[in-house]
Amino acid sequence: MMGFVIFVETRKYAMINASLCDEILVLEFARPEKKNAFTVAMYTELSQALEAADQNPAVKVIVLHGAGDAFSAGNDLHDFLAVDRTIEASPGIKLLRTFSRLEKPLIAAVNGIAVGIGATLLFHCDLVYAQSSARLIFPFVPLGLVPEGASSLLLPQLVGHQMASEIFFFGEPVSAQAAHTMGLVNKVLTDTPVLEFALEQAARITHMSTGSIRHTKALLKSRVAPLKSDVHDRIEAEGVIFNDRLKGPAAQEAIAAFMGKRAPNFTGMD
Ligand code: COA
Repeated sequence: MMGFVIFVETRKYAMINASLCDEILVLEFARPEKKNAFTVAMYTELSQALEAADQNPAVKVIVLHGAGDAFSAGNDLHDFLAVDRTIEASPGIKLLRTFSRLEKPLIAAVNGIAVGIGATLLFHCDLVYAQSSARLIFPFVPLGLVPEGASSLLLPQLVGHQMASEIFFFGEPVSAQAAHTMGLVNKVLTDTPVLEFALEQAARITHMSTGSIRHTKALLKSRVAPLKSDVHDRIEAEGVIFNDRLKGPAAQEAIAAFMGKRAPNFTGMD
């Protein structure tokens, strides 16, 4: 049994803590006072950190983690209102594209609530470990939006159309144990801190053949011609509808309701 890894090299982005030790890069979402909700700056930093890691021969495996008691509360709702986005310029779509193209193994250590893109990014991780207290929430329909991150393709592949409809329509929290049962989470940790376990698994990967891991991931993700998956196309298709709906009355009402700490009223809205 390994102990905690001691970090020997650290790069500080503004809101992503990047720590590299023994070929394991830990990227920590560092906005705990807002449950690690992603701002535009965080999306950009995380995309940059992932792209740099994929190119850096000193990194063999990447671990994602949230600071404090949350993994991530998803897109910052203030940014949703403030940012006039197109699909080309959307930093969330750019991050999702980066996730879907990443060649190196990616492990998520889900330490608490994972909402929106904080949950859909898990579909792009190779291994997902969750603390037993973690909850996944896909709140797109309650926000007047549609699923993103190719989750409308990948969730039904795991659980079937009916279960996926229930999860997306109602947006109710999915427990770590339920996520394990559906196959999205590899292991639920009760006593061991999830980051500690994720680092142990990451350390095992650093001792394996880099080429074997890279090719196996590419095969599993159907990125090898002629397997070619349609994950990338789905991210784009969802993004068009998502961005369109984000400007519409239902999403504006849902976000205003969250900020006003009241229930949304979608009467008369599409
Ligand atoms: N965007 C902006 N601020 C957010 C946020 C988000 N997505 N999620 C949480 N916050 C803020 C809260 O407004 C609060 O700020 P305040 O202390 O200034 O009031 C702070 O983070 C703590 O959140 P709080 O709601 O008090 O924590 P909680 O543990 O009771 O609930 C959540 C956590 C994540 C379940 C809840 O905050 C939530 O539902 N957030 C919205 C998630 C969401 O819809 N994301 C968009 C997905 S597309």
